[in-house]
Amino acid sequence: MRVFLDFFLRTEHVTFVANSKTMAYTHLLVEKSEQIAEITINRPDKLNALNREVIDQLSRCFQELEQDGSVRCIILTGAGEKAFVAGADISEFANFSVEQGRDLSEEGHRKLFSLVEELNKPVIAAVNGFALGGGLELAMGCHIRIASDNARMGLPEVSLGVIPGYGGTQRLPRLVGKGRAMEMITTAQMINAETALNYGLVNHVVPQAELMDKAHEIAGKIIKNSPTAIGFAIQAVNALDNKEVDGFQEEIELFGEAFGTGDFKEGTTAFLEKRKPDFKGN
Ligand code: COA
Repeated sequence: MRVFLDFFLRTEHVTFVANSKTMAYTHLLVEKSEQIAEITINRPDKLNALNREVIDQLSRCFQELEQDGSVRCIILTGAGEKAFVAGADISEFANFSVEQGRDLSEEGHRKLFSLVEELNKPVIAAVNGFALGGGLELAMGCHIRIASDNARMGLPEVSLGVIPGYGGTQRLPRLVGKGRAMEMITTAQMINAETALNYGLVNHVVPQAELMDKAHEIAGKIIKNSPTAIGFAIQAVNALDNKEVDGFQEEIELFGEAFGTGDFKEGTTAFLEKRKPDFKGN
């Protein structure tokens, strides 16, 4: 499959339609197989930088996959061997006013970064090279991050006279601790994959050739479980970052709600009958 994809990656603006129900995207390759969807951001000549069009397409694609009952886990990666995403597209905002800058950030949060974090299906970021600025912020919006050994991560925004605007000032300290985040943000320096692993910014580091296999291995474990319970679990864990919600109370409510689902009946019945559950996601 990788060989097949590599063929397409050499050409920019390729539309890959996985099946008749999948919408066409000029900057994304989308492939679905056995309940796992793979999204590849396909703008390799610009190191997959996020311009407005890419953000719009990712937003639509994630919403579509969330509604797609045949998909239970999503893997997000970048085209080529060099970059996951090298950041927001600098050429697009270089002349922005204060209002335009604020709107760019607000729109990005709403359309993509918070959308991904709150998606009811797990999203795995397979970081296959540079994940800088908006690229690292996108990976941090995902639920699980794994990296290839050549990956380099950083938030270089202050070197451009701006600050991280797609959640980086909030999600990085939550993942690596405030001290490390302050150092990464104020020095604008990149860290390598080994340091990212040591910081807890990524869960696994593997040779680049094994990255997608590792992502699929994790996805394969996820899709065996109840999609409904996974959606509830994501919501409960995300309550940690929501100051308006008591996370423990959220957990209590969602725990109770789970008892009313078909997946709970199936999971417990299958256990008692000593068979594998057949979860329908209801
Ligand atoms: N926005 C727009 N274009 C970008 C980009 C970005 N964030 N990152 C890379 N590109 C473009 C480059 O302009 C170049 O385009 P060109 O060939 O038309 O000139 C192309 O991608 C390849 O990048 P290049 O800089 O030549 O690759 P490199 O291997 O020398 O350097 C990086 C790689 C990642 C170190 C370097 O591209 C970089 O510093 N990018 C910006 C990172 C950044 O600051 N991101 C945060 C934005 S808020």
